[in-house]
Amino acid sequence: MNRIQYNDKNKIFHLRAKDVSYIIQVYREGYLGHIYWGKEVNAYHGSFPLRFADRAFSPNPDKDDRTFSLDTMPREYPAYGNTDFRTPAIQLMMPDGDHITDFRYKSHRIVKGKPALEGLPHTYVEEPEEAETLVITMKDSLHPIEMDLMYTVYADWPVVVRSVKLYNNMSESLKIQRIDSFNIDYRSRDFKLLHLPGAWGREREVDIQTLHQGVFNIESRRGASSHQHNPFFALLSQNATEDTGDVYGFSYVYSGSFLGQVEVDSFRNTRVHMGLNPFNFEWLLGAGEAFQSPEAVMVYSDRGIGHMSRAFHGLYRKRLIRGTYREKVRPILINNWEATYFSFDEDKLLALADRASSVGIELFVLDDGWFGKRDDDKTSLGDWFVNEEKLPNGLAGLVKEVNEKELSFGIWVEPEMVSVESDLYKEHSDWCLHVGGRRTSESRNQLVLDFSRDEVCIAIEKMLMEVLASAPIEYVKWDMNRHMTEAYSAALPKDRKKETMHRYILGLYGIMERLTAAFPDILFESCSGGGGRFDPGMLYYMPQTWTSDDTDAVERLKIQYGTSIVYPIISMGSHVSDIPNHQVHRKTPMAMRADVAMAGNLGYELDLTKVEADELQAISKQVKRYKEWRHIVQLGDFYRLISPFESNDTSWMFISDDRMEVLVFYYKKLAYPQESFVQLKLKGLSKDRLYMTSEGDVYGGDELMNIGIPIPVLEGDFKSCHIHLKKI
Ligand code: DGJ
Repeated sequence: MNRIQYNDKNKIFHLRAKDVSYIIQVYREGYLGHIYWGKEVNAYHGSFPLRFADRAFSPNPDKDDRTFSLDTMPREYPAYGNTDFRTPAIQLMMPDGDHITDFRYKSHRIVKGKPALEGLPHTYVEEPEEAETLVITMKDSLHPIEMDLMYTVYADWPVVVRSVKLYNNMSESLKIQRIDSFNIDYRSRDFKLLHLPGAWGREREVDIQTLHQGVFNIESRRGASSHQHNPFFALLSQNATEDTGDVYGFSYVYSGSFLGQVEVDSFRNTRVHMGLNPFNFEWLLGAGEAFQSPEAVMVYSDRGIGHMSRAFHGLYRKRLIRGTYREKVRPILINNWEATYFSFDEDKLLALADRASSVGIELFVLDDGWFGKRDDDKTSLGDWFVNEEKLPNGLAGLVKEVNEKELSFGIWVEPEMVSVESDLYKEHSDWCLHVGGRRTSESRNQLVLDFSRDEVCIAIEKMLMEVLASAPIEYVKWDMNRHMTEAYSAALPKDRKKETMHRYILGLYGIMERLTAAFPDILFESCSGGGGRFDPGMLYYMPQTWTSDDTDAVERLKIQYGTSIVYPIISMGSHVSDIPNHQVHRKTPMAMRADVAMAGNLGYELDLTKVEADELQAISKQVKRYKEWRHIVQLGDFYRLISPFESNDTSWMFISDDRMEVLVFYYKKLAYPQESFVQLKLKGLSKDRLYMTSEGDVYGGDELMNIGIPIPVLEGDFKSCHIHLKKI
């Protein structure tokens, strides 16, 4: 089947992803109109034509037609300056100061598969049949400037992937002031907006709001995708729920500053787009040069938010994440951070490793504090050599001992940073982001290295390669603990200073690409003070992310629920930690902490040498259980049942890839008098098959979905239970 068809008569493109149609029309003198994106139709016969009327104060490019205005046209990729007053997707400044652009259709081509985006993270195909790509070339009506609008449709997912490449064919440079990766103009404002705002320690809260006339921004200006906003939003039809209604999701495959906008205009239309944040971005594009935007993934679901999430999960798990760990279950780890913070020595670590090994944990992770003279967060970032006072036998000696305890070994690094108190800073004080003559602001006592500079990237990459080659290291936690200020590169000329943040991200991606290629068997986990850079860009290089520094079980229900709106469960690191919890000081039972952490990539982050014997035994049982279940959690399908944002209870479930096993988790936050009995309806089962619990009770799939399963009475606060079912 040809997924992309072009009808030369009416100049209509009909693109088809799984269950989805996307329709574009070349209109009048080459304007690109957006016709439709939604549930698949066999063929489009023109039922939703572009319609115009004479609208006051919407000017007309053609003086003989007072009805036609770009201001009222649903457009594919709007520019600024010739009758459309809404926010444009692209803004350019010509060498003579002209900042108007007027792109018109020039040509198109359709290719099998999906071209790679050089130097940028991107979704991919393994076989050309998996997708088809439409490239529409647009040309400015005055200058020899062109752009390729790229649309890829996937056969197995309801997904359209978009990006833009701009070509400067003039003999002088132009300035890119804004370049979004996509634009959609809906002929309606009948939506709600779902996005994932937050803060450090409470990342990705589910926020659903009404649209109003005006512009709503979802953005980061911080040089990282951030805890504050995630590069994602969705429009929901007014009646949409977790399982019903139309949902349009937009996810930006990028890790730096971004801007997503939802604009409702005076005609009750809605425009949405997302791209590099123009607040602190500009790019000088030389004569004959091209600029590739990052890509955006758009999912349409006719079955509510849940179906959208499963499409993102499937695509990101199978065609964004790469490498050895793409389809491999992840090791259960112990991390020493909350167990010891900076105060440890080899003996302490080995005692912890001993305990971890005795309960069946598989990976020992040495967190911050192993290098330079780092006994607190004031020194040594940049000095990536072992602290021999703490580790007299070096990393190699420590790893050998850890390996002898049948644990693999992993290590923490924060390569993008430098402490003022460090050898690296003494030698290269100009390697950080700064503006000559101005004070450079610190955050957590550290400065950001200027990864827009090749020499900085080369030096840091070399140090990292040496560390990773110095011992059999099988896991790396890559941290990033502050945002950018004075974000200008000393190495860039004055007309390129606003390129710094994007060049930084390109430099970072370059290092990650080479490092992960050099060490293909290492499992990399990205982190930024927890989940401050939980985005698809990072997942392309590092297949899991430390979801949040907040390890409290109750808070984690919301954080993991919100994260699951876009990101696959296998990408979420989730640890059992000590009580009182170090972030919110709450005491929750070990059983609930484990049930929450087991609904992600399980790890432990507490001092196992100090836990009581009965707790150690409980941990040992959890580890054993998780080894039996982790393929369901990590490689299966995920269904949300009860939202912690709407209820005292939370529930979610997993169905294994072969659909034979089901794992349900139910959590109750606070007890209340005269509690009602809970009957939980499951989702996604085979309605004509039977399922058996571990206790031997047998239920029909339809029965479990329509009538539900009884949840045992759970007395007291912070309680949870899990149910494992097998299809028979
Ligand atoms: C922030 C991370 O999120 C923590 O898990 C820990 O690695 C610290 N940094 C170490 O400084």
